[in-house]
Amino acid sequence: MSLMQPNYTQTPPAVPNVMVIFGAGGDLTRRKLIPALLHLCNARLLPDSFAVLGLGRAEMDDAAFRDLMAEPVREHVGAAFDQSIWDRLVARLHYMRIDIHEGAEYERLRERLRELDSRRGTGGNYLFYTAIPPSLFAKVTGFLGAAGLLRETGNRWRRVVVEKPFGQDLDSATALNRELHRHMDERQIYRIDHYLGKETVQNIMVFRFANGFIEPLWNRHHIDHVQLTVSESVGVEHRGTYYEEAGALRDMIANHLLVLLGFIAMEPPNSFESSALHDEVDKVLDAIEPLSPEDVLRHAVRGQYGAGTLPDGERVTAYRASPGVDPQSRTETFAALKLRMDNWRWAGVPFYLRTGKRLATQHTEIAIQFKRAPKVMFKNTDVNHVDPDMLVLRIQPAEGIQMSFGAKIPGPAMRIGAVNMDFCYEDYFGNKPATGYETLIYDCMHGDATLYKHADTIEKGWRIVQSVMDVWAAMPPRDFPNYAAGSWGPKAADQLLRNDRRQWRRIPDTDGTETSTVREGLYTESRKPQS
Ligand SMILES: NC(=O)c1ccc[n+]([C@@H]2O[C@H](COP(=O)([O-])OP(=O)(O)OC[C@H]3O[C@@H](n4cnc5c(N)ncnc54)[C@H](OP(=O)(O)O)[C@@H]3O)[C@@H](O)[C@H]2O)c1
Repeated sequence: MSLMQPNYTQTPPAVPNVMVIFGAGGDLTRRKLIPALLHLCNARLLPDSFAVLGLGRAEMDDAAFRDLMAEPVREHVGAAFDQSIWDRLVARLHYMRIDIHEGAEYERLRERLRELDSRRGTGGNYLFYTAIPPSLFAKVTGFLGAAGLLRETGNRWRRVVVEKPFGQDLDSATALNRELHRHMDERQIYRIDHYLGKETVQNIMVFRFANGFIEPLWNRHHIDHVQLTVSESVGVEHRGTYYEEAGALRDMIANHLLVLLGFIAMEPPNSFESSALHDEVDKVLDAIEPLSPEDVLRHAVRGQYGAGTLPDGERVTAYRASPGVDPQSRTETFAALKLRMDNWRWAGVPFYLRTGKRLATQHTEIAIQFKRAPKVMFKNTDVNHVDPDMLVLRIQPAEGIQMSFGAKIPGPAMRIGAVNMDFCYEDYFGNKPATGYETLIYDCMHGDATLYKHADTIEKGWRIVQSVMDVWAAMPPRDFPNYAAGSWGPKAADQLLRNDRRQWRRIPDTDGTETSTVREGLYTESRKPQS
């Protein structure tokens, strides 16, 4: 697997290829893909023999496409924009108008690619990127297959990056996998989850497996429970129509959180080879105890935001008032789950997952709470309980790792406060401009699918989420909206942990700084050790 190093000079450029983007006029291309290519170009990770062929419905030539990309890319790259790097990349951008619903059009595409190949020396290697609505993924790959564009010979490779969401439920995901497999091998399919391109997600594996001290503690003997939080402060913005069909469970838990959980909970793989890693993530998903309808009622919480006030004082409207959203919508904008694992390492250790929109702050983290010290030995002192230690892997913002533990508060009396040891990526490695797509695109060009999802992982993830979706569909929510925008979600989410005599970790402010060094006791209500 290729990790993006701060010093890229050791990393070879990608293999010559043409990157063909379906949906070249879309939001993803403008905001993420072309900026990611610019960052790769800046890091000299794009080969000299390289071209982008944007495909779209609009009639325009290469020059117009280059102009169309320039402004949004400049805007999204911000201060890191470098005109000389852009000039290098922009000369490689090409465009072709296409009706992607017409099989005959793919013959024209083949001709255009042949012409680009001979002009750029890209060796017949094509990376097809589906930056189009999910309903078109199967159709487009079907036409590519029929036109012979997915056929590989000799060293010439053909790969398809499939965007998310990958299906809407277990049946549609299975059907999509079946359809893709009709036209190409699994090893040619790159199902993307841009979360897996984030440095800190990859760092979970480095932290666990490159450091000898952590692995002996990484099990039920030492860990009390794990919390995964992906909180968004934004609402659905202009994506109301999409979100109505998705909801928090499908959009975030099925897509992102279960793979994060896989990285946290997996056994050490035999190697960093793609198949070894995927096998271990799959074993984690297999080990998650299936949720019966009763489990769903007790261990799953859904919510939808009403109007509210954000921490900065801004008043915002309810989800149901968003453009494209049904005024009586039953779509959840918040979901929390308690999952248990039926395996040797994690028996008895709950994993709590939560995600939502319009929450108090934008934050993604994994918090690992260790068991308390077995005995409070500070007899005849002011200390009558000690907070449990906690390790926090921050994915965003202020990417880094924080360890909270007890320390003596200076003074003649014996008092203990929780202090933080904090590693912040930016402090050590500087702030590298990145969209999360750089590593993934680069890896695909190298044929490294480690950070992509394969068919089994997708289906196993949907199987877990499907049991919740079924119960929720059968029992429409009666209390929506049930949390105010700017809060931490519905009360039932707090109750989910309170039932286990636990509570969600207090998430720091938006700037990522934890101001308080003395943490509030987590078990002040019960002060009982957890079993
Ligand atoms: N935007 C993001 O940040 C983001 C994040 C994660 C995943 N994704 C996924 O990435 C994909 C693209 O997202 P997006 O936000 O860029 O979507 P978008 O702006 O709504 O659409 C992308 C492009 O798809 C083409 N398209 C749409 N409907 C079409 C039709 N009926 N026939 C032919 N072409 C059609 C259009 O290309 P032309 O106008 O050029 O013809 C459009 O610009 C989606 O699958 C989305 O779920 C996006």
